[in-house]
Amino acid sequence: MLSLCIETSCDETAAAVVRDGRTILSSIVASQVKIHAEYGGVVPEIASRKHLESIDLVIDHALAKAEIGINDVEGVVVTRGPGLIGALLVGVCAAKGVAIGRNIPIAAVNHIEAHLLAILLEQEVEFPFLALVVSGGHTHLYEVKGIGSYRTLGQTIDDAAGEAFDKVGKLLGIPYPGGAVIDKLARQGNPRAIPFPRPLLHDGTLNFSFSGLKTAVMTHLRRNPQYTEESLLPDLCASFQEAVCQVLTEKAAHALDLTGFNRLVVAGGVACNGGLRSAVQELSRKRGVSVFFPSPHLCADNAAMLGVPGDFYLTRGLGSLDFDAVPNWPLDAIGALPELMK
Ligand code: KG4
Ligand code: ZN
Repeated sequence: MLSLCIETSCDETAAAVVRDGRTILSSIVASQVKIHAEYGGVVPEIASRKHLESIDLVIDHALAKAEIGINDVEGVVVTRGPGLIGALLVGVCAAKGVAIGRNIPIAAVNHIEAHLLAILLEQEVEFPFLALVVSGGHTHLYEVKGIGSYRTLGQTIDDAAGEAFDKVGKLLGIPYPGGAVIDKLARQGNPRAIPFPRPLLHDGTLNFSFSGLKTAVMTHLRRNPQYTEESLLPDLCASFQEAVCQVLTEKAAHALDLTGFNRLVVAGGVACNGGLRSAVQELSRKRGVSVFFPSPHLCADNAAMLGVPGDFYLTRGLGSLDFDAVPNWPLDAIGALPELMK
């Protein structure tokens, strides 16, 4: 099955050609990040307009790079949600256009589902596994029993981890999105320099909270403005990052204990973070669990990751044109497809 995958949930217009849900023939990402950086965050209306401008070009580019024509595509896969409604609609309309024009099946997939399955484009991971999805909009722990079978074990009750990185970046005058820059600065800093709180670390649940941590950084900066100076900035970044990564890692360890799983997949843009990668590798050494991180280009938003669930649904005849974009679409709502898990 040759799938054309289309992703427009936020500020990246992306298209990819994937064979049999495992082999990437092409993956094109047109990022709008520089445009939104001017405003300090994603402006939904601008995102929709830019998607409209780019979508045809990005699809053409993906087909050309895969060295196929539109007539070779056997199925279409698109992100239905969650995401910005106007942005999602551009991808959904383009995908339906191809499916109707070519009379081929179309599968709608969940953006978070695609993130947590992206690793299968690079490595075999046996089910079941625990997935920690950490992005600009999500911080969730899922039990993944198979493609189509997901259960939320915990989630943030306020800001997502990536959102916390970006908001702290803003406090520090770092252009949006600040996550990768904080990561880079943190490498030269002392993670024990400032004892920032570890929110909800010992509350006994698998939930997260990062909004108070951002406020703690703001309060610290008000009392100690010298921390925005070049010599102290790395210490602040390292201390903040350490607090986020410790909470993420210890909650994931708790979830491994509760589920008895010995495989952990970390996905989403924040999975690029060096501090998180080291902390999770350390957890793996201590507990003997296997941990999996996709390569950075598959952690950040891309269309190739849609190919994994897309192929699964298309080859089982589960594609249908009868769907709309859904801005809030919890992963659990997809429901289990136990009969298809084999
Ligand atoms: O998955 P993604 O590309 O888009 C969403 O679905 O949200 O994630 C983007 C988020 C942003 O908040 C960005 O700052 C964060 O991932 N991010 C990082 C790093 N690289 C990207 N956060 C911390 N460290 C990084 N190296
Ligand atoms: Zn994403």
